[in-house]
Amino acid sequence: MVKLCAHRWTIPAVVLVCLTLIGSLLIHELQWPSLVAFRAQMPDPKPVDITNITTILIWYWPFDQRTALEGNVCRERFGIPNCILVDDQSLFSLADFVVFHNRELINGQQRLPVHLPRPQKQRWLWYSLESPVHNGNLRPFAGHFNCTMSYRLDADITSPYGRLVPQNFGTGSTVEDFIPKDKSSLACWVVSNYAPHHKRTEVYNKLKSIIPVNVYGGAVNKRLDDKTMRSTISRCYFYLAFENSISRDYITEKFWYNAFMIGAVPVVLGPPREQYEAVAPKDSFIHVDDFQSIEELGEFLRKLAEDKQRYASYFNWRLKYTAKRFGDWKEEFCRICPKVSSLQKQKVYNDLDAWERK
Ligand SMILES: *[C@@H]1O[C@H](CO)[C@@H](O)[C@H](O)[C@H]1NC(C)=O
Ligand SMILES: *[C@@H]1O[C@H](CO)[C@@H](O)[C@H](O)[C@H]1NC(C)=O
Repeated sequence: MVKLCAHRWTIPAVVLVCLTLIGSLLIHELQWPSLVAFRAQMPDPKPVDITNITTILIWYWPFDQRTALEGNVCRERFGIPNCILVDDQSLFSLADFVVFHNRELINGQQRLPVHLPRPQKQRWLWYSLESPVHNGNLRPFAGHFNCTMSYRLDADITSPYGRLVPQNFGTGSTVEDFIPKDKSSLACWVVSNYAPHHKRTEVYNKLKSIIPVNVYGGAVNKRLDDKTMRSTISRCYFYLAFENSISRDYITEKFWYNAFMIGAVPVVLGPPREQYEAVAPKDSFIHVDDFQSIEELGEFLRKLAEDKQRYASYFNWRLKYTAKRFGDWKEEFCRICPKVSSLQKQKVYNDLDAWERK
């Protein structure tokens, strides 16, 4: 009887064990076909070395600005090979990098997946383009991140608001070709977030008593759409590229786009001059700190606008470079791949808050 019983249960038990084994293997392996299929879609002229591909998982999109990730985005759109961008959380265990945008973490919309088993070589990347005063409390994130990505030059991966790209315009170009014609306003400022305690408000108030300053933007109920912004600012000799907070390397699109790309000389208020000089020629902008007083700054701007040749010299950089502004999230995340080999092999931000404030 005992023997019979044992016999009756042995076969189902073996079958059950086998099924469980096959099942768990399948669940594990099933993640592979999707990635292999994904990689196979890439019509790469060279054979793809799948051991040297970096997979970047966007855990959620910054500001919920989701965009499609069809095909091999990094290679097709930005010429970056061996780099796969995904936003499907089920690929977690295969990702080399997992990107977390700070805003959604600090406002509680998203959480770090600390409950998931984290592959040994996987790096978590903290991403923010905000200045420290807008990044909230980072203490809860101590010990979780391996990489930082921000506008800061000392971040593991720098994601600037803009940059200069060398460009050969050939002979025959003169600096005048790059200066918008019909300059008619001395100084212009676009401001959406106006606060009396900002240092820039104090500087603006003094400056407008010395020279005329045209103000636009939400703060004064004169919003400019993209097109009017361009035509308005290009008529200004100077653009007040005043940052809302003064912090290390915090140089935003006010400088890169509103001034440089549209074609007005930037008058900057932000980090010290050396930090601007690290990213732009020293004679391409005017720093508020270059002057003893705002009166002196105002007088300088007035005289400079009258001196055509000297004014034009602020555009000399245009003969060698073009200014580019921040592309889109995809471009920024693809740009992680070429940086991988220069990253420290092992790194943990045990005090992200202190890093941010240094
Ligand atoms: C992996 O790719 C990087 C650049 O994408 C290259 O520098 C490196 O030599 C490659 N490594 C191997 C083992 O092929
Ligand atoms: C990433 O950080 C975790 C700690 O959160 C650490 O265990 C892991 O070794 C780090 N990985 C790398 C590649 O630095």
